[in-house]
Amino acid sequence: MTQYPVNMSVTPDVSAHFDEATNTISYIVKDPTSDACAIVDSVMDIDYAAGRITYDHADALIAEIQERGLKLEWIIETHVHADHLSAAPYIQDKLGGKIGVGSKIMVVQDTFGKIFNEGTEFQRDGSQFDKLFEDGDTYKIGNMDAFAIYTPGHTPACMVHVMGNAAFVGDTLFMPDGGSARADFPGGDAGTLYDSIQKVLTLPDDMRLFMCHDYGPNGRDIQWETTVGEEKAHNIHVGGGKTKEEFVKFRTERDATLDMPKLIIPSLQVNMRAGEVPKDKDGNPMLKVPVNAL
Ligand SMILES: [Fe+2]
Repeated sequence: MTQYPVNMSVTPDVSAHFDEATNTISYIVKDPTSDACAIVDSVMDIDYAAGRITYDHADALIAEIQERGLKLEWIIETHVHADHLSAAPYIQDKLGGKIGVGSKIMVVQDTFGKIFNEGTEFQRDGSQFDKLFEDGDTYKIGNMDAFAIYTPGHTPACMVHVMGNAAFVGDTLFMPDGGSARADFPGGDAGTLYDSIQKVLTLPDDMRLFMCHDYGPNGRDIQWETTVGEEKAHNIHVGGGKTKEEFVKFRTERDATLDMPKLIIPSLQVNMRAGEVPKDKDGNPMLKVPVNAL
């Protein structure tokens, strides 16, 4: 197993921005000893019925970074999201920073390149991104060390990013009362997701975990922060020592009842291009709807 360079003595400042339309939480993560920061999982707003894209959520992230005088070094995608569009290139245009995603993005691009019948001009080598992370890859945000953990299962390209004593778990885990993400998208696998979650749960008990989504189960207020210890003890899908067999049975049965996310069709086309809207042959931004393909 990969040895990860955990350093619990560094406590980044984490600023959360909740997107009500998609229940996504975007983060600005600041190095405690410099002005450097990273964004994790930004959101671009879409009114899909109207085909209209706007930038209120991204503009709020940009405004905060500018007001605090921070320097954006990284724009991290924990995975190719199927429920919201990434604003990474919009933010990069305004503030700079490198866009990074897991190296298995190539698998996702290949799968959905076929489903959306993308032509040969759609590169399936991850070249739309500035950095492709492998399991255990390290990088710097100012003086702060960060690293990526490969956590497939929800999708083949999922990574958890650890920055000091804060881990951004993407869609591996939800809050303890929310459980885990679905594993039934093309390339997903419940058993693989269980193994990935176990990797995250080997981090120190007091590692802070930040969710990509929260839906406020049972009417509680939206929350996004917990710890490894809390998840291990109380997560309703994997906590309290639930076995892989129990998890796979539960996850598979549950996933069979779930509808597709409302924004999966536009999200995949945009996010597999690092947040760029595809263009038609005349260069106009244009989205497709493959019929009976998902
Ligand atoms: Fe996701």
